[in-house]
Amino acid sequence: MKHKENQRPFVLHKTDVHLWVIPLDVDPQEREKLVTLLSPEEKKRAEKFYFDRDRNRYIVARARLRTLLGQYLSVQPQRLIFGYNTFGKPFLVSPVFQEMVQFNLSHSHDWGLIGITTVGPIGVDIEKIKSSIEADTIGKRFFAKGEVDVLSAAPSSEKLDIFFSCWTRKEAFIKAIGKGLTFSLQDFEINPRPEEKYPELQFLKPSAEGENLWKLFAFEPVDGFKAAVAVRSQKAPVFRVFHFQSTGEAPWKH
Ligand code: COA
Ligand code: MG
Repeated sequence: MKHKENQRPFVLHKTDVHLWVIPLDVDPQEREKLVTLLSPEEKKRAEKFYFDRDRNRYIVARARLRTLLGQYLSVQPQRLIFGYNTFGKPFLVSPVFQEMVQFNLSHSHDWGLIGITTVGPIGVDIEKIKSSIEADTIGKRFFAKGEVDVLSAAPSSEKLDIFFSCWTRKEAFIKAIGKGLTFSLQDFEINPRPEEKYPELQFLKPSAEGENLWKLFAFEPVDGFKAAVAVRSQKAPVFRVFHFQSTGEAPWKH
C-alpha cells in the first residue's frame, strides 16, 4: 500500500483524520480473494445487486473497509462485526473498538472513500462530477438559501464545480450525524465555494448537534471527483489523504 505523504498510515494520533481513496474496480482474481473477507450478511447483500458492476464495487469497498480497520485495530478483517443505526450507518459493535476508531464509507462509480479517526463521529462523501446534472434546478430544490445564492450568481462554467462541492460537503455532514435525510438539508448551510478547503458550517435553526464542533475538509480525491469529510471535534483535526494501492497480497500480518 502506498500513501501520498511521509506519515505512516495505520497509526492515529489524537487529532488525526485519515482519508483513504480507493479504486473499486479490481481484477476478478483479486475480487475472489476479497469476497472471503466479508461476513455472511455482507455476502447475502452483495447477491442482491442487480448489476454485476455494483455488486463487485460493493464487495471491494466492504473488503477494503475491513482490511483498513483491521490494520488500525490489529485484528483480522474477518473478525470485525458491524452494527447499523436506525438509518443504516455502520459502526463497530465492540465497544473497545468503537473507542479506538470511528469510520465512514462512501462510493461513487469506480472510486471509494473511507474516513477513519478517533476524534468523533465522522461522515464522508465522494461524488463523480456529472456534467448532465441540472445544477441550478437541483440546487434550488436541495440546498440552503446562502448556498443557492452562491450557485445562482456563479458563471455557468463554475456551476458544476460549486454544485458538487456543495453536495459532498452537505452529505458528509448528514452522514456524520448518521440520521440520513431526516435532518433537513435546509436547516444548515456550508460554504460551497470550491477553493475553500475547510468550509464552515452554520445551523440556520437551533440544533442539538453542536454548531462550533463540526470541522469540514474538502478535496479532489482523483480527477473528475469531489470529496468531503465532516467530523465532530473539540480540537482542530489534522486531515491526511492516502491512496490505497493493492499489492495483490494480504496487507495485514497474522
Ligand atoms: N449515515 C452515514 N453513513 C451511512 C448511512 C447513514 N445513515 N447509511 C449508510 N451509510 C454508509 C454505508 O457504509 C454505505 O455504504 P455500504 O452500504 O456500501 O456500506 C455508505 O454510507 C453509502 O454512502 P454513499 O456511497 O455516499 O451513498 P449515497 O450517497 O447513495 O447515500 C446516505 C448517502 C447513506 C446518507 C443515504 O441514506 C441518503 O440519504 N442519500 C441521499 C443523498 C442526498 O440527497 N444527499 C444530499 C446532498 S445535498
Ligand atoms: Mg454519496
